Amino acid sequence: MRIGKHEVPYPLIQGGMAVRVSGYRLAGNVARCGGIGLIATAGIGMDSPHFKGDNYFAAEPLALKDELAKAYEIAPDGIIGTNCMVAVTDFVELVKASCEGGAKLIVSGAGLPLNLPELTADWPDVALVPIVSSLRAAELIARKWHKSYHRLPDAVVVEDPDTAGGHLGEKLENIGTGQYDQYATVRDVKAYFQDKWDLDIPIIAAGGVWDRADLQNALQQGADGVQMGTRFVCTEECDADDAFKQAYLNCNKEDIGLLMSPAGLPGRALVANVEAIRERDLEMTPTCPTGCLRKCAYKSKGERFCIVHALDRAQRGDMKTGLVFCGTNAWKATRIETVAEIFDELFQD
Ligand SMILES: Cc1cc2nc3c(=O)[nH]c(=O)nc-3n(C[C@H](O)[C@H](O)[C@H](O)COP(=O)(O)O)c2cc1C
Repeated sequence: MRIGKHEVPYPLIQGGMAVRVSGYRLAGNVARCGGIGLIATAGIGMDSPHFKGDNYFAAEPLALKDELAKAYEIAPDGIIGTNCMVAVTDFVELVKASCEGGAKLIVSGAGLPLNLPELTADWPDVALVPIVSSLRAAELIARKWHKSYHRLPDAVVVEDPDTAGGHLGEKLENIGTGQYDQYATVRDVKAYFQDKWDLDIPIIAAGGVWDRADLQNALQQGADGVQMGTRFVCTEECDADDAFKQAYLNCNKEDIGLLMSPAGLPGRALVANVEAIRERDLEMTPTCPTGCLRKCAYKSKGERFCIVHALDRAQRGDMKTGLVFCGTNAWKATRIETVAEIFDELFQD
C-alpha cells in the first residue's frame, strides 16, 4: 500500500489509540512488521519526564518527539505516523511536533481537519489522511483543501461508528440502528475521488476488522487497506498497563457500550464503571485540570467527567475509575499475543 510518498508491504494501519495505548512501542513494532504504526498524540505528555503537573501543553509536543524517536529506534526504516484529533486544544502544536519529529503521515479525525495542509505546508512529504464516517465529510474536506491549499488527501480512513473504538463520528441515536453501511461508504468515497478528482488514493476501512477473514472481506468489498485498533491492545507491545489488557481479556459482549464523552461525541468503551468515573470527578468539585479539549462539557459546565484524566488512569491500570475505550470486537481477545503473530495470521501465505 502506498500513501503519498510512503509504501508499506502490507495494507494495514494500526489505529492511533489515546491516551498512550498506542505509544512508541506499539507503533514501532507494527512498522517493523511491515504495517503503518501510529502514535496517538492526545495526552502523550502526561507520563513523560517533561510533565511537571501544571505544564500539560508544554509537555505534549516534547513528549511526542521523544516517542517518535523511540519508535524509529525500533523500526528505523518503518512508516510511522501520528494520530492528531481536531477536537484537542493543542491540535496545531501536535501536528507541527509530528512533522518536526519525523512523522511520515498524519491521520486526523474527531472533527474535520480543514486546515491540516496549512499546518504541514513546510513538510510536503508528510502524507495527510483524514478520518471520516460519511461521504459528505470527505467531500467537505476535499473541496476545502483543494480550494484553499491546492492539495487533496493522500488516503482516507472511513471509520465505522457501529464497530470502532473510542470517539465516534456519528450521533448517538444513529449508532447501531443498522442504517450505516461501512463498505458502501468506502466505495462511495473511492468513487468520489476517482470521478470528481481523477485520483486513485487508498480508501481504508476502520472498525470491526479482527482476523484474516475480516481483512479479506474488507479488501473484497472495495477497501484498499484496513485500520485496526482493538486487535492490537492485547499485544505484548501495546503501551497500556497489563490491567488494561486484562480488562479486554475478561470482557463479554454485554460489557461493551456507548457513552457520551464531554467532547460532545459518543464513544465506545467498557461501560460498567462509567458512573464511578463520573462520581469521582463530581465529588472532587469540578475544575478542569488541563483544558485539553477545545469544547468540553466538563470544563464549561462540570458535566460528565474529565476525559483525558479518565483515559490516562486507565492506561496506568486503574480499572475502577479509568475509562477503557474499545471496539465491538474486544470480547474476542483471549490471550496476549505479539504484533508479529498478528501479522503472520493476517498475511502469511
Ligand atoms: C483504546 C482505543 C483508543 C482510541 N483512540 C483513538 C484516538 O485517540 N484517535 C482516533 O482517531 N481514534 C482512536 N481510536 C479508534 C482507532 O484508531 C480505530 O480507528 C478503531 O478502533 C478501529 O476499529 P477496531 O478497534 O474495531 O479495529 C481508539 C480506539 C481504541 C480501541
